[in-house]
Amino acid sequence: ALVPVILCGGTGTRLWPLSRASYPKQYWPLASTGEDTLLQQTQQRLAGLPGLGAPLLICNEDHRFIVAEQLRQIGVEPQAILLEPVGRNTAPAVAVAALQATAHGEDPLLLVLAADHVIRDAATFRAKVTAGMAAAEAGQLVTFGIVPTAPETGYGYIEAAQSLLGANEPVPIARFVEKPDRATAEKFLATGRFTWNSGMFLFKASAILAELERLAPEVVSACRSSLEHDSADLDFLRLEREAFASCPSVALDVAVMERTDRGAVLPLEAGWSDVGSWSALWETADQDSDGNVLRGRVISEGSSNCYLRSEHRLVVGLGVEDLVVVETDDVVLVAHRDRAQEVKAIVGRLEREG
Ligand code: GDD
Ligand code: MG
Repeated sequence: ALVPVILCGGTGTRLWPLSRASYPKQYWPLASTGEDTLLQQTQQRLAGLPGLGAPLLICNEDHRFIVAEQLRQIGVEPQAILLEPVGRNTAPAVAVAALQATAHGEDPLLLVLAADHVIRDAATFRAKVTAGMAAAEAGQLVTFGIVPTAPETGYGYIEAAQSLLGANEPVPIARFVEKPDRATAEKFLATGRFTWNSGMFLFKASAILAELERLAPEVVSACRSSLEHDSADLDFLRLEREAFASCPSVALDVAVMERTDRGAVLPLEAGWSDVGSWSALWETADQDSDGNVLRGRVISEGSSNCYLRSEHRLVVGLGVEDLVVVETDDVVLVAHRDRAQEVKAIVGRLEREG
């Protein structure tokens, strides 16, 4: 069986003011078409994968009803919704999912996905997942590497041990490099061996547990004990607070993927984006003939290359260029597209100033 493990723990502050701690970006309809949320699309694009089973979801306990309701809306019955009392990054989230998936003696393939990514070409994505299944069944830790289109500095990079050109089988990993500077990223691109770390993985539950046990035993023991003292109601499985809070906060990449010798990378070209900013969203969306992306009650006249979004009030863009305008209940953001990354710093300042 193939069990999707959907990580929903991110806070997405770079998409403020829409994305908030109380309602982060994965729970919003953010792709260029349709009204489904990023979380719903993450699940929906899996339909048709061989052996697909019910998903495991891992989210902050405050968001449990949002997750349950969004799954209900698309007619998906989860295997469980695991509730984190606090965020401890992705290694513990994957560890509890793997422990839960093997709790009754099964050993499924786990497809670890972030709830907040956009993938435009779902068919190619499914074909790549399928292409990785044999290697994962054989015990490899398969990671999906995005074929880079620019020397981005907001992503981790994975170096393959050999050229990735046309690879349709996972290639052994030489090393990981988290968020390099621009000059380094440019050198990487020139070699043809580097991909962006997507944060999506495919492995046997037993294989990732064995590597976690070996490389981060304190993560596994804290997660095991948070599950032993869990409390369940409906589909919710609440991790015991003290045990989970005592777990080290560490990404799966750092805890395992950078150090294992069972890692392999499968290159993916499917219009992937982690929607890290309003400008990234503008880039991946379908733009109109003037380069604008318009969502909600929006009118644009003589404007170009803008992202204009309204939740309530009518937004009119008249003769403007390269702007991001996002209207919400209590905040209106007006930013230059080139500076959209900086909203994260603004959010930090607002938090400090109360
Ligand atoms: N359940 C849960 N709990 N999920 C979490 C937690 C947590 O504590 N922390 C993060 N996640 C989820 C987020 O929802 C997000 O989708 C994903 O894990 C990655 O976390 P980010 O916080 O967004 O990491 P990043 O963007 O700085 O960098 C990572 O992702 C990039 C690709 O999007 C790294 O893995 C980079 O190397 C990579 O390129
Ligand atoms: Mg991210």
